[in-house]
Amino acid sequence: MECTNMEQKSPFLSKMINAARVYYIETFGCQMNVRDSETAAGLLETVGFSRGTDKESAALILFNTCCVRDHAEKRVFGNIGALKERKDENPNLIIGVFGCMMQQQEVAEKLYKRFPFVDIVFGTNLLSRLPAFVESAEAGSRTLAVDENNIQIEDDLPSIRTGKINAFVNINYGCDNFCTYCIVPFVRGRERSREMQAVVDEAKKLVAEGYTELTLLGQNVNSYGKDLINASFASLLTEVSKVEGLKRIRFMTSHPKDLSDEMIAAMASLPNVCHHVHLPMQSGSNEILSRMNRKYTRERYLEIVQKLQAAMPDVELTTDIIVGFPGETEEDFLQTLDLVEQVGFASAFTFKYSPRKGTSAATMEEQVTDITKRERLQRLNALQERKSRENNEKYVGLAGIVHVEDCNTKNEPVCYGKFSNFKMVYFTGTPELIGQYVPVTVTNVRKNSLYGKTAESSKYKTDTN
Ligand code: SAH
Ligand code: SF4
Ligand code: F3S
Repeated sequence: MECTNMEQKSPFLSKMINAARVYYIETFGCQMNVRDSETAAGLLETVGFSRGTDKESAALILFNTCCVRDHAEKRVFGNIGALKERKDENPNLIIGVFGCMMQQQEVAEKLYKRFPFVDIVFGTNLLSRLPAFVESAEAGSRTLAVDENNIQIEDDLPSIRTGKINAFVNINYGCDNFCTYCIVPFVRGRERSREMQAVVDEAKKLVAEGYTELTLLGQNVNSYGKDLINASFASLLTEVSKVEGLKRIRFMTSHPKDLSDEMIAAMASLPNVCHHVHLPMQSGSNEILSRMNRKYTRERYLEIVQKLQAAMPDVELTTDIIVGFPGETEEDFLQTLDLVEQVGFASAFTFKYSPRKGTSAATMEEQVTDITKRERLQRLNALQERKSRENNEKYVGLAGIVHVEDCNTKNEPVCYGKFSNFKMVYFTGTPELIGQYVPVTVTNVRKNSLYGKTAESSKYKTDTN
């Protein structure tokens, strides 16, 4: 059901069209939203807008929202509220809010009512209509548009990439997993895979534009192709890896339940696929994993980790973990700590469980108190800090190839970038190295970061690109 609501404003205001037509997009949430904002930018530039560097000079301000946790939601409302004064001073300013949070009809309506100075509100599925919504706003109409149906994949929308050295490429949209805590399947719709050829063509185009590193994006990349004929994530990796000039292929996120042996074999054998897996474990307790509807056990999780490590000795794993899921006992939590201890993640995103309206966990009994969540989060973070330190220390004395992301020339000239397996390294260097692949030997660990110096050549295990 699509709901569109347009309100007329005074004709006087509608005539005061901004001359500058500079846009500014503020993005909350995950890489999917970052990618959508790139598309929003592309669409705006095709209708004559140009990118601004700050909110202050913009004639059009857009917020791309996230609702995965309460914290993300509050930040969005706070940021929009803060713009009221700007709008009072400059009624020509156009303000739009879109993305996951606005895909929830109720929330979109609430925001539309609470902030009458917001001109455009629309959900995730209507991005291609952004130019039309902006045109209406310039003519003095407000828009509220939420489409609850999935729409076809639109492969050919223009976009302006923001990654300096890495470009995001969507491979599948939406999610069918319905983990009981998660809002994403409700706001991103059912899983849809892009055709393999469309992904390969985009990769070729990006290489022609100068990118040598890509990140393939999906809520669950491992189930890529389940809605296509003869396509799997392993076969997609194989095809993308053949694109000439592509040096590094990353991907995220991997759901453990769909991580296949073929995918591990492809990762291990294809020279330009990076040895890093973001493998959210969520919990180390089988009882909690089952209540989360994750469809794997701690034993299965460990088995996958061991297979990955056996196939790729230099592989690094990162993860997401939730503490305080409904019914989580101290015993369950200790199981989480134990699994974190055993796996040895390079890093972890850790979250307090946040009830999301409409998800089944939100109404489960035995909700955990905030004090307990906070206390568990602290203990988990303390453990992960130790594990991250241990992980860092094993790199001292090793060399690898860093793909240089950026340089900071403020104090001392420090460049940084990642090894193929996602470890970030800082080293002395100057901005002309940005975008290059530089051999670096790790010399020491400072705070939580690796520091090194440029090396003659890389001797680091299998890291050859
Ligand atoms: N598709 C990805 C990530 C989705 S959201 C995946 O399946 O791994 C990113 C992370 O946010 C999740 O991995 C989970 O750890 C966390 N998360 C999602 N919903 C949450 C909630 N209601 N409360 C706390 N953390 C949540
Ligand atoms: Fe959410 Fe689970 Fe889907 Fe990830 S796999 S987006 S956590 S429902
Ligand atoms: Fe947030 Fe939407 Fe991503 S809810 S985590 S921006 S898919």
